[in-house]
Amino acid sequence: MQTENTFLKVINLYISYKADTPPVFESIDFEIEKGEFVCIIEHSGCGQTAILNVLAGLEDATGGDAIMLGKRIQGPGLE
Ligand SMILES: Nc1ncnc2c1ncn2[C@@H]1O[C@H](COP(=O)(O)OP(=O)(O)OP(=O)(O)O)[C@@H](O)[C@H]1O
Ligand SMILES: [Mg+2]
Repeated sequence: MQTENTFLKVINLYISYKADTPPVFESIDFEIEKGEFVCIIEHSGCGQTAILNVLAGLEDATGGDAIMLGKRIQGPGLE
């Protein structure tokens, strides 16, 4: 649920680099509140850098949305 305290909302995020191989990840949903400190911990190659690149606006996800402070992330910015 998006509230005034929501910093980041990730909805059904999906990244696939090649059509003939399984996606790096799919169906990723989470929310981070303002001031919350979050770590993403997984095995190497599971897409941690890929997801951070999407959140930084450096990479487009194959599907889904990432919304920061109520605005869809569409490219890098000062935030
Ligand atoms: N531009 C790209 N084109 C094709 N495959 C890619 C691309 N970038 C990343 N990958 C692949 O996507 C998967 C996830 O990569 P990513 O760099 O996000 O892993 P990671 O979870 O950050 O790993 P590590 O913990 O080692 O840093 C890997 O299998 C990687 O080889
Ligand atoms: Mg990495």
